[in-house]
Amino acid sequence: MTKDSSSSFKRILVHIVLLVLPLVSRSADPDPLQDFCVADLKGSISINGFPCKTTSEVTSNDFFFDGLSREGNTANKFGWNVTAANVLAFPALNTLGLSMNRVDFAPGGVNPPHSHPRSTEAVFVLKGKLLVGFVSTANILYSKVVTPGQMFVIPRGLVHFQRNVGTGKALAITAFNSQLPGSASLPQTLFASKPSIPTDVLTKAFQVDDTVIKHIESQLAS
Ligand code: GLV
Ligand code: MN
Repeated sequence: MTKDSSSSFKRILVHIVLLVLPLVSRSADPDPLQDFCVADLKGSISINGFPCKTTSEVTSNDFFFDGLSREGNTANKFGWNVTAANVLAFPALNTLGLSMNRVDFAPGGVNPPHSHPRSTEAVFVLKGKLLVGFVSTANILYSKVVTPGQMFVIPRGLVHFQRNVGTGKALAITAFNSQLPGSASLPQTLFASKPSIPTDVLTKAFQVDDTVIKHIESQLAS
């Protein structure tokens, strides 16, 4: 290969990479290959997603879900409850690349810092007043008080939270571009994993002594 043809080959390669990169980063779940694939959650084969229920057994009922119509029980130490409409609760979402949550808050309730490894999240407030925030990988907090009819978006994978800053209850619907976004709650991940993270890792990471770590762990133990 001459010097000229080698550099034009490199240029073409760079162009191809630049063209393909946005396509890769644009998608969350993969696109469906058929109209629908209602999940057979009991299917024995393991694939990326779930196998499809036999089409002749699919009815209108499969595409209907009323699990978000009921208020969640917020009588817990965080004053918050999430009801998920993901593929596990609503199998028709299999392969469709979306899901939703109903998030209820008692006055003062907090949805603790967490992240969704497979999805961006849109928060739509229906009732009350929520402080919604996320922290970027540059460690900058972006936050806003969001009221009924307003939205806030949380980019995929970033740590975020909501706190009810109104006087009464609050309610939000969250939407995800994944059938199963996954959720890693920071308090649970760090202080309630099984087996637990070695205490000396946590004392060093948080620059505290082990009584503090033990105290947090005992508070989070269910
Ligand atoms: C809110 O952050 C949710 O994950 O539903
Ligand atoms: Mn979330």
